[in-house]
Amino acid sequence: MSKTQITITQPDDWHLHLRDGEALTSIAPFTAKQFARAIVMPNLNPPVTTVVQAVEYLDRILAAVQGTDFEPLMTLYLTDNTRPDEIIAARKSCFIKGVKLYPSGATTNSDAGVTDIRLCDKTLEKMQEVGLPLLIHGEATAPDIDVFDREKVFIETTLQPLMQRFPELKVVFEHITTKEAADFVTESTANIAATITPQHLLFNRNAMFQGGLRPHHYCLPVLKRDTHQQALLAVIRSGNAKFFLGTDSAPHAKSKKESACGCAGIFSAHAAIEIYASIFEQQDALDNLEAFASFNGPDFYGLPRNSRTITLKKQEWQIPESYPLGSETLVPFLAGQTINWKLA
Ligand code: NCD
Ligand code: ZN
Repeated sequence: MSKTQITITQPDDWHLHLRDGEALTSIAPFTAKQFARAIVMPNLNPPVTTVVQAVEYLDRILAAVQGTDFEPLMTLYLTDNTRPDEIIAARKSCFIKGVKLYPSGATTNSDAGVTDIRLCDKTLEKMQEVGLPLLIHGEATAPDIDVFDREKVFIETTLQPLMQRFPELKVVFEHITTKEAADFVTESTANIAATITPQHLLFNRNAMFQGGLRPHHYCLPVLKRDTHQQALLAVIRSGNAKFFLGTDSAPHAKSKKESACGCAGIFSAHAAIEIYASIFEQQDALDNLEAFASFNGPDFYGLPRNSRTITLKKQEWQIPESYPLGSETLVPFLAGQTINWKLA
């Protein structure tokens, strides 16, 4: 018999872009409404590279979610020049939960990212020592690599050697998109986990070209072919505890998406937990949702599970065509479509 209501421990979003300024004010409440905590990405312009910048950003986020209990979990943006001292300060800070590796040029605001991971070995050694996780955007960036192969090549050329050099380093392989990544994480030691986005579960690359070019289905890492989508769906059906919820909700103004050179990023925070619930139900895996959304993440990060619960009801509702993004417009994931779970 299919369920008409589920109550689960309040979930957390382990990969989120909150932006800054008026965009932050527009979008942060969507996340605070559903999630207790979120790992906040540091790819602002300029990036959040120091503990001091992170605490300032934290204050701006807290102002945007005033009146809620939402707890932002901050990250630092790793550069070629991040010092081991900054890692010590981050660990002492208590509110910084990870350090993000953007290979230089891989995605939005990654220009200040790492040009060669070996330049960071002293810093990574310190992270391994103090137990601060490395959050990885896992794509190789050399211009001759096929865009659909970037994740697979990254595993071979960067991630495997990195794990050999730092076998105890805690790593979150963010927003995985391929069977190779799912297999790599499944077969690795317990200190490697991964996040999975709603879009990579729901779609494959056909969605970007359905009847024309679909900029609102464009994100990085880009959607892959059907076999990879199927591998990610198999992961969530399996209930493997190394995989957890990370929306990668990444808003860009409509004008920046619907453009001759459109930005990468899909905004899903408006309905994230509802969309995941629909996907899990469709996979006959609704019983696995709570662990994926609410247990596996905190367990990996060594944080307590949330004590509150949320209730989702089986109820159709239509996602709006757009939301305000400061003075601009934002087209949300699944705009105009009907979904069948709603946060009570
Ligand atoms: C993200 C963004 O816009 O900040 N874009 C995206 O397509 N996911 C950056 C990122 O996580 O790659
Ligand atoms: Zn991201």
